[in-house]
Parts: sequence; structure tokens; C-alpha cells
Amino acid sequence: MPTVVMASSKGGAGKTTAAITLASELSRQGEEKDVKVALIDADPNKHGAKWAKKPGCPGNLNVYESDEETIIDDIEKAEDENAFVIVDLEGTASIAVANAVSRADLVIIPCQGSQDDADEAVKTIKLLRQQSKAFRRKIAYSVLFTRTSAAIVPRTLKFIVSQFKDAGVDVFNVSLIEKDAYKAVRSYGGIVNNLDPKEVSGIEVTASNAKAYAEEVKRKLKEIMSGDSDG
Ligand SMILES: Nc1ncnc2c1ncn2[C@@H]1O[C@H](COP(=O)(O)OP(=O)(O)OP(=O)(O)O)[C@@H](O)[C@H]1O
Ligand SMILES: [Mg+2]
Repeated sequence: MPTVVMASSKGGAGKTTAAITLASELSRQGEEKDVKVALIDADPNKHGAKWAKKPGCPGNLNVYESDEETIIDDIEKAEDENAFVIVDLEGTASIAVANAVSRADLVIIPCQGSQDDADEAVKTIKLLRQQSKAFRRKIAYSVLFTRTSAAIVPRTLKFIVSQFKDAGVDVFNVSLIEKDAYKAVRSYGGIVNNLDPKEVSGIEVTASNAKAYAEEVKRKLKEIMSGDSDG
């Protein structure tokens, strides 16, 4: 326990990056005490599982490859066996998506900072609200901006964030910045912190961004689990 699900109906929004980054950082933090973390890859393309098969994957990270038929059982099993469960999904509305969000403690909706992407995130939010009604269960969700500029917050992004906030949608304070190191782990394997600075630039900045993101996820989960959340 708990389960965090990445969902967005838009392909390429940054779900797998958000899932791998969270799984890597929580595994890194829990490595010494052998705190187990689960990454459930329920996307038929299996991008997350492919990353985990490369060298350097943390030893305390357990990877489960799921489909729409097995995902609920896999989430239950992973919740029993791990301190955190992270689910990566495909970029379309599917039975696997519906099943996964039915078990989520927190749904993260990755979104790039354009109006088109924000409109797609709204579609995902509508789907979550439908699922919430269907399952008669509150589903907490939060929008995570991805691939943002490290240097400045563009005015458009600020405007989009304010639109969500005005609509009562929870938005992460932290965003995942656009960094080569996030791409590099997908090629080389392993976690950002262990990349070779001779091969990849910006490792420290990226590692600190990943940490801030994981801290905010943990904070949100704490609030949700203690019943303080209004999200
Ligand atoms: N913060 C980032 N910095 C640099 N590159 C990024 C970042 N986030 C995502 N990318 C790149 O953008 C592409 C799409 O990201 P990702 O695979 O995470 O999206 P996705 O939502 O999982 O896509 P799909 O719907 O196809 O599964 C990838 O090539 C990834 O490396
Ligand atoms: Mg993906």
C-alpha cells in the first residue's frame, strides 16, 4: 500500500516518465532499509518494464507486467508485498485504465504545458469523475505538469495552472522539468542519480527535481490516507 496510478488519455503526456521517476526515487530512498516498491506496467507497449530490464534497476523495485484481466489481482498482490505501488497505463481510455483507477489512492494526471494538453487532461478528469460515480468511491487525483522549462515558468503555463485551480482541480506544486537525464535513464537503464556525468548533463538538477516530486507525492498520500484531502 498505497497505490498511485498514472493516467492520461493523451499519448506521450509523460506517464511512463512520471512512473519510472517515482518508482526510482522511492526505491532509492528505501534501499537501505529494503523498503519494497512495485511498478505495475499495464501498458501493452511495456515501456516501463523494458526500462526495468536494463542494468541498474534498484534491487528493491518489483516489476509486474499486467493487462486488463490481471491488473486488479496484481494491484492487490503488490499492495500486500510492497510499501508503494505505482501503476503505469496506456494513453487511451481502456478497461485496464478503469480497473486501475478503481483501486487508486491517488491518480496522477501528467500534462504538458499547452492548452491542447490541458484540454486532454480535462477529458481524463471527466473519466475519473465517471469512474468515481460508477464505483461509488472518491478517487483523489492531481495534475502534474511535465517537460516544463527549468529556468522560467512561461505565462501560458501559469494561465493553464490557474484554470485548473479555479476549477477546483488539485495541481502539483512541483513539475517534472524537461531534462535529458529523464530521457537517458530510458536508454541506459537505472536511476537518474547513477547516470554517468561524462555521458549526461544536468544529473544533479534532475535528481533534485525527482526528489521534490516524490516528496510531494508522499505528502499528498499522507493527507489522503488521513482523510484530510479535499482532492
Ligand atoms: N521531463 C522530461 N524530460 C525530458 N523528456 C521527457 C520528459 N518527460 C517525458 N519525456 C520524453 O517524452 C516522451 C514521452 O514521454 P513518456 O513516455 O513518459 O509519455 P507517456 O505518457 O508514457 O506516453 P505513452 O502514452 O506513449 O505511454 C519520451 O520520449 C520521454 O523520454
Ligand atoms: Mg507510457
